[in-house]
Amino acid sequence: MKFKAMTAIAALVISTPFMASADADDDQLVVNGEIEMITKAPAPAHLADALDEVISGWHMRSDETQEMQADDFDNPAMIFVEQAQDDWNTVMGTKDKSCASCHDNVEDSMAGVRTVYPKWNDAKETVYTMEMQINDCLTDGMGADAWKKSGAKMARMEALISVQSRGMPMNVAIDGPAEATWEQGKDLYYSRTGQLDLSCASCHEENYGNRIRSDHLSQGHINGFPVYRLKNSKLTTPHGRFKGCVRDTRAETYKPGSAEFIALELYVASRGNGLSVEAPSVRN
Ligand code: HEC
Ligand code: HEC
Repeated sequence: MKFKAMTAIAALVISTPFMASADADDDQLVVNGEIEMITKAPAPAHLADALDEVISGWHMRSDETQEMQADDFDNPAMIFVEQAQDDWNTVMGTKDKSCASCHDNVEDSMAGVRTVYPKWNDAKETVYTMEMQINDCLTDGMGADAWKKSGAKMARMEALISVQSRGMPMNVAIDGPAEATWEQGKDLYYSRTGQLDLSCASCHEENYGNRIRSDHLSQGHINGFPVYRLKNSKLTTPHGRFKGCVRDTRAETYKPGSAEFIALELYVASRGNGLSVEAPSVRN
């Protein structure tokens, strides 16, 4: 079993001196010449046995892709953020309300919100992703239909809300009532699945910095989500990305919005505690 896993990962990953250069690179991400991003940080305490430092996926991208993210005029994701700003002000549903009716300016009401999601919801007694909260606001608050999980409207609203936290360090809570869900996410992260018998950790913890196929493996953080992907010119949510990664191990994947992906989102977010919210980031 162990041997099989070794061959699968060895066949996929090409070790290159990239890792050294990625670690050594002291590129700095400053957005619009003013928002200084923390793209490298000491690993959070719960990761101390596994990693010394957490590194944003931004460092693993080409210079050209990195630059697109450094200026809102060059960042192709900003058009979706503008569309979400329109959605924010649009009256929807039977209660004749817009998001703004209750939350006023997104800049003020949503500052810092992204850094703490997913988070425990006391009333619902479960861990809530931002998507779940938005859908509650739509259905209960506005009498409108819920948006499709990880769909285009949802992704762009998450991007708009995340922009209000840019530069602030991720800080999701993993203790207290959220702990059991976090543990479930951790189990999923380290479970080997699929024909290739790989876990998230096989790639993003043991091989970050190395090349895989034509790509450059990052630590797999979600501080930059939703991300704009150059390959399909769309925003991708964390659950959309998880789905693709699980599928790459040739395993059956979970659905966006599933309990498994909610737990995984909390766990993966907690691995990036300390890194700045970068959304919407640009990736290939
Ligand atoms: C009828 C009033 C109302 C409307 C309209 C409304 N919300 Fe909310 N929203 C709330 C309330 C109340 C909370 C706090 C819920 C809680 O803490 O349990 C909330 C919380 C949130 C949060 C989480 C904030 C945090 O600090 O955790 C987000 C994100 C959010 N709303 C987004 C939206 C979006 C996007 C829309 C429009 C699609 C919207 N809301 C429309 C009432 C509303
Ligand atoms: C076979 C190797 C492999 C496995 C296993 C894998 N991934 Fe990935 N993942 C990739 C590649 C390649 C990319 C694109 C390059 C990058 O950003 O690392 C990626 C990207 C990501 C990203 C985006 C990072 C960013 O900064 O944009 C996240 C998040 C992620 N993976 C999470 C996961 C999770 C969670 C799992 C386990 C369910 C997982 N991955 C399993 C190969 C893998």
